[in-house]
Amino acid sequence: MALKDKIGIIGTGKMGEALISGLIKSKLADENSLKASDAVSQRREYISRKYGISCLLDNRQVIENSDIVILAIQPRDMKVVLEGIRETITLNHILISIAAGISTEYISKILQKNVPIIRGMPNNPCMIGEGMIALAPTHNVTKESMDVARGIFNSIGRTIVIDEMYFDAITGLSGSGPAYVYLVIEALADGGVKAGIPKDVAIELAAQTVLGSARMVLETHEHPAKLKDMVATPGGTTISGLMELEEGKIRAAFMRAVEKATQRAKELTRE
Ligand SMILES: NC(=O)c1ccc[n+]([C@@H]2O[C@H](COP(=O)([O-])OP(=O)(O)OC[C@H]3O[C@@H](n4cnc5c(N)ncnc54)[C@H](OP(=O)(O)O)[C@@H]3O)[C@@H](O)[C@H]2O)c1
Repeated sequence: MALKDKIGIIGTGKMGEALISGLIKSKLADENSLKASDAVSQRREYISRKYGISCLLDNRQVIENSDIVILAIQPRDMKVVLEGIRETITLNHILISIAAGISTEYISKILQKNVPIIRGMPNNPCMIGEGMIALAPTHNVTKESMDVARGIFNSIGRTIVIDEMYFDAITGLSGSGPAYVYLVIEALADGGVKAGIPKDVAIELAAQTVLGSARMVLETHEHPAKLKDMVATPGGTTISGLMELEEGKIRAAFMRAVEKATQRAKELTRE
């Protein structure tokens, strides 16, 4: 069902385009209710042509025509963009930022007013509608606005609502996570090649195995350890493979990867 709110997207890079595409495909928005802006003229032409929506140069024009404004720009551009929209954004808008490492406190400080803000952390599979998006509202965001925000991000993946205090850790887990999983898929496929399977077939086998296993966890709600035990029969092939992984300290390696990425997210937030 179409949203009654008008949506504006500032920044039409990878994430901005994913949102435009998701909103139009799911019919939550159309050319009348969705506007965008971008600093690059080729990008504006491309977005207008491909999606049939207005993609403007002036961010303020987008804000004047929107109820919900999504900032999908790089963190480094945030300060300049916020200073540019400070006079135009009102307390009646809902501002959503998906910039990594930029807190709602920072945004409020630059805007110098208490605009309701939702901070989002998406990830790379949002580009095909299979993302994971964490959302954290400031205290002045209503439940109704939060439902609308979830609807918007559900068009590009799965959403959770969580306190902003977890955002560095979420960046380290689901934000950086796709890269870890791509590495796992590549490594499994290399194992297949070592065992004699052609590379392209091995990649397909590995990727669908990861996809299917993830869906098993989400759809059965079983603990991953129980699902693992179901595959590993006594004296069978899987338990031999699992022993190799345990010897390679694979669990500790993944735990440390999330821990390190979380630490790095904290450092970047401070910089
Ligand atoms: N991609 C991911 O997987 C991912 C995951 C988690 C979080 N995020 C966050 O999502 C945000 C967007 O990421 P992205 O991957 O979509 O980045 P991106 O592809 O670089 O897109 C950002 C877009 O905003 C435009 N822009 C820059 N300054 C602007 C301005 N003053 N007014 C309007 N538009 C402006 C950029 O133009 P230029 O090319 O000229 O800069 C670019 O087209 C980032 O803050 C990132 O931290 C992304």
